[in-house]
Amino acid sequence: MTKLWGGRFTKPTNKLVEEYTSSIGFDQKLAVHDIKGSLAHVSMLGECGILSSEEVTTISNGLHTIEKKIAAGEAEFNVADEDIHMNIERMLIEEIGPVGGKLHTGRSRNDQVATDMHLYLKEKTQEFIQQLENVQQALLAQADQHVETIIPGYTHLQRAQPISFAHHLLAYFWMFERDKERLQDSLKRINWSPLGAAALAGTPYPIDRQMTSDALGFDRPYPNSLDAVSDRDFILEFLSISSILITHISRLSEELILWSSQEFDFVELDDAFCTGSSIMPQKKNPDVPELLRGKTGRIYGNLMGLLTLLKGLPLAYNKDMQEDKEGMFDTAETLDGALSLLAPMIETMEVKAHNTRQAVNEDYSNATDIADYLALKGLPFRQAHEIIGQIVLYAINQNKYLLDLSMEEYQKFSPLFEKDIYKKLAPDQVVAARQSEGGTGFEQVKQQLQLAKKALV
Ligand code: ARG
Repeated sequence: MTKLWGGRFTKPTNKLVEEYTSSIGFDQKLAVHDIKGSLAHVSMLGECGILSSEEVTTISNGLHTIEKKIAAGEAEFNVADEDIHMNIERMLIEEIGPVGGKLHTGRSRNDQVATDMHLYLKEKTQEFIQQLENVQQALLAQADQHVETIIPGYTHLQRAQPISFAHHLLAYFWMFERDKERLQDSLKRINWSPLGAAALAGTPYPIDRQMTSDALGFDRPYPNSLDAVSDRDFILEFLSISSILITHISRLSEELILWSSQEFDFVELDDAFCTGSSIMPQKKNPDVPELLRGKTGRIYGNLMGLLTLLKGLPLAYNKDMQEDKEGMFDTAETLDGALSLLAPMIETMEVKAHNTRQAVNEDYSNATDIADYLALKGLPFRQAHEIIGQIVLYAINQNKYLLDLSMEEYQKFSPLFEKDIYKKLAPDQVVAARQSEGGTGFEQVKQQLQLAKKALV
């Protein structure tokens, strides 16, 4: 089989070289986008008088036929044709004859592949925005149910202050909201069209780049042909945004794993999202959140891979850039899997409100509130803190919680204590009292829920 670029060569390509340099094994995934780009290109060539309208029709029909064959799994891709671009061109020429060779007029594989990647990522980015919204909806649905479910809030993984469970879930809602904003913003840059930059310098044909840019739904052509074919920032950006996003997913997963352990026992993940042990029959393992946490490695790795790939590359195209694809596909596919599972897993998880409340009843996380109590009575907060420290130590030694201490015991530490201290220390009151903006007070959380719902419409 002769190469599409064979004219200058006198020897056939070494088989190993063919294998080594080809990308068809993975860039097949760009077939739809490649054909879309070619259709826009060929109709522009017609509009600009570079090809006749019969040629345009023949080529377009041929491309549609190939598209159908690929969709039906009837197309045969060859390593000898190196990549998706030349495979499709070869199929086109086989389908419609030598006129198929006119498709590549006024463009190069360099602007072609860049265009394909822009189209691919644009589609994926829009899908991820939608999938993130599903995750947010799931968080909202749970939060709605659990405004008044109280759980221990932690710092240093030590019980700190009790909070509303909805408040905890909504923290993740806002992380995902920022991820969505980042994706949305990246679309501005994904939406530049490289098509027509040709190999690196533009083309002498009287092409119309605005026309192909419009036809493909991009905002504008890249203003610089060298930049158009060398830029992979939009992929870097996608990989960075994905890295931040998977970090959020991983943190949430870690909490689900902790919470579903016997030690915490705050939530139960639905059976459908857990697996068993082949040897210990009592076990129900949180495999899904564990894998979500574990997927972080490859997503960070793909970002590091592309950063490293690009750092020393001179302008414009270099074959190294073929290595930009697998990491991008892998990240996109990994995220797709993660987001599709996350939403239903959150939706179906059971929150053990009785246990979370029990946990709060059996800790000292209302200590800050006694300090605030004394401070409100005029004692400097620092002094109050010191006194409460002693009270907590005393209570621990007596094997009691703060609500179990008698009035006499309290008054031994400060005469400022009165009966109302017991009300102040009740967990519901402790949570409800935190009415500062963005705090965990129930009324604040209800307002926050409203804000979150508004953010989704
Ligand atoms: N398969 C190549 C890639 O993915 C397409 C561009 C090839 N361009 C070239 N001048 N060899 O990067």
